[in-house]
Amino acid sequence: MSSTATETIAHLRCIACGATPPSACQDFRCANCGDLLEFVFPKWTFDPGALKALWLNRRTSRKPLDQSGVWRFRELLPHIAEEHAITLREGNTPLYELPRCARIAGLDTLHAKHQGMNPTASFKDTGMTFAASSAHQGGFRWVACASTGNTSASMAAYAARGNMHSLVLIPEGKISWGKLSQSLDYGALTCQLRTDFDGCVRILNELVRQKPVYLLNSVNPYRIEGQKTAAIELLEQLGWEPPDHIIVPGGNLGNSSAIGKALLEMRELKLIDRLPRLSIIQAQGANSFYRCVNEFGGTKLEPMTADTMATAIRIGNPASWKKALRVLRATGGAVEQVSEVEIAAAKAEIGSDGVGCEPASAVTLAGLKKLTRRGFVKPGESVVLILTGHLLKDPDFTIKFHRGELFAGTPDDINARLTMPLQRAPVVLNADLGAVIGALDAAERNS
Ligand code: F0G
Repeated sequence: MSSTATETIAHLRCIACGATPPSACQDFRCANCGDLLEFVFPKWTFDPGALKALWLNRRTSRKPLDQSGVWRFRELLPHIAEEHAITLREGNTPLYELPRCARIAGLDTLHAKHQGMNPTASFKDTGMTFAASSAHQGGFRWVACASTGNTSASMAAYAARGNMHSLVLIPEGKISWGKLSQSLDYGALTCQLRTDFDGCVRILNELVRQKPVYLLNSVNPYRIEGQKTAAIELLEQLGWEPPDHIIVPGGNLGNSSAIGKALLEMRELKLIDRLPRLSIIQAQGANSFYRCVNEFGGTKLEPMTADTMATAIRIGNPASWKKALRVLRATGGAVEQVSEVEIAAAKAEIGSDGVGCEPASAVTLAGLKKLTRRGFVKPGESVVLILTGHLLKDPDFTIKFHRGELFAGTPDDINARLTMPLQRAPVVLNADLGAVIGALDAAERNS
């Protein structure tokens, strides 16, 4: 893997007490103070121009690692021996223009990097390829995660590719069928626990202390390192010209931490000359980080019982909140919260640009609308939304929305009528040409 002269030297450091353990415990918590660990790179001396050229050149290579949109940037990641790398050619995700959404948000232009176009259809693959490879390098037979559905789908796939067994802990009844079906097909031992995501995390943390099982949640710093590459790839796609704003959904806050870490490291390495503002959007029913920043000035995070139909971010006690807070402050970003109706509307609007995403990803557009309204984002500024999951991850939500059933019987029912112009319920007709022509003509008159 050493295609450059310098092999990357990385070591672990606790984000709170600064301890530098030679290796991590099974739960990836600092043995001193219990906080999270991160990788630091004390001896980075890269020529930024040479790095950019090397990465670009790898796009023409036929080597599996060079074809991965994660491993292509391996100089900025800790070293993992090539024979342990498990890749599904993740990353390489498109950057789309969203002209309709730009108009809706009051911007001249708007872009979305669609991480749902990864092999298992969510952004998790970029971190998982790297962390699953570290499990393989460590000789583990079993890997495990607690999940709202996407991490588990991704983990199960990479474990299968690496000939490892995987154990999935998911909240019973609160994940989408699409995600559940993935982990079944990829062969995971899938346990639906009668609790929420936070309850699954508690049990998993106990489990890894008792069994030789490798933890693949985003407290694992290898996950964060792999997920950094989404930001590196984005900047490469933009010709290394930073956008003014990057907007991400916030759940367990691993993704925002990873993207922020990448931005800071890219600036340190002079790959970019200024930082975009990184803003984080939460669902109102799962807003512990929003409250941490806007009510408690970042001094504490009060865990909550989370509830939102955007089940991917139905998380009340986000593990990486301190890492996210640090990058939020370093980049000058904002935190917003959005309602269930705002999420549903934004999801349909992203769909109307021919792109689509799952509900948790749509908080980005819903949040952007609020950020433009309050003047934090200006009409001429460049903005990139990170869409984290594919539209087909949660078709139930989409179908209920278009049939006008999503909010039936909930307190949001009346409010949700505002979204009726976005609804496109299927039309059931007799198998009759005249009926179809009638539907076509009616649609034309209304368009
Ligand atoms: N968007 C999607 C589609 C997700 O699946 C998640 C998290 C997030 C956003 C939030 O990212 O946690 O890094 O802040 N899903 C996790 C899971 C927790 O288990 O799949 P985060």
